[in-house]
Amino acid sequence: DRLRAMERPLLSWYKENARVLPWREDPKPYRVWISEIMLQQTRVEAVKPYFARFMEALPDIQSLADVSEDELLKLWEGLGYYSRAKNLKKAAELLVAQYGGNLPASYEELKKLPGIGSYTAGAIASIAFGIPVPAVDGNVLRVISRVTGSKEDILKQSVKASVEEKLKAVMPQDSPSSYNQGLIEIGAVVCIPNGAPLCERCPLNSPCIARAKELTGVIPVKTPK
Ligand code: ADE
Repeated sequence: DRLRAMERPLLSWYKENARVLPWREDPKPYRVWISEIMLQQTRVEAVKPYFARFMEALPDIQSLADVSEDELLKLWEGLGYYSRAKNLKKAAELLVAQYGGNLPASYEELKKLPGIGSYTAGAIASIAFGIPVPAVDGNVLRVISRVTGSKEDILKQSVKASVEEKLKAVMPQDSPSSYNQGLIEIGAVVCIPNGAPLCERCPLNSPCIARAKELTGVIPVKTPK
């Protein structure tokens, strides 16, 4: 089907087009975790200097668990959404106390940590540990709803859960990191929001229903709550 048809073009496109990013060059679990939390509400270019500074100051989980709230908030200042930083520290303390200072190589265990939902758990599991689980954020929801021509409201939890389930069933078992980051990357640089996606450059344009039916201005549907 349409979702299965994505794999080959997606992986070969990603191989050629992946941006070189600090957390991709060295995808240690701690680095992937911190980068994914920063990237939740902040763009890649803005995250880069924060990420570098953060890694310099707090190079591992233990140092994050030990840092003072003052120093932590200074490192986070400008990124906003400070609950993210507080959850990072809380999770680090928990990891030191219960997991020997390591992130668990398990989607379900990751999801139990403060600040880690299904997207972040999937991103860490797949990128850092090679576990074949999807990582569905708003970008990925946009790409998948366009490819499948779905007019369902992507703000609904049930729609997200259904996309997660479908991707889990079709994603390659041996390259979950490239597959997930390929979808994220397409959503970030090609299948962009609003009416102007760059379909000519999209590796998924042949199976894409929204493109065929000229619905990219309509899909994804987001009904304000
Ligand atoms: N946005 C969220 N996660 C990302 C990643 N791993 N690479 C690039 N952009 C992202």
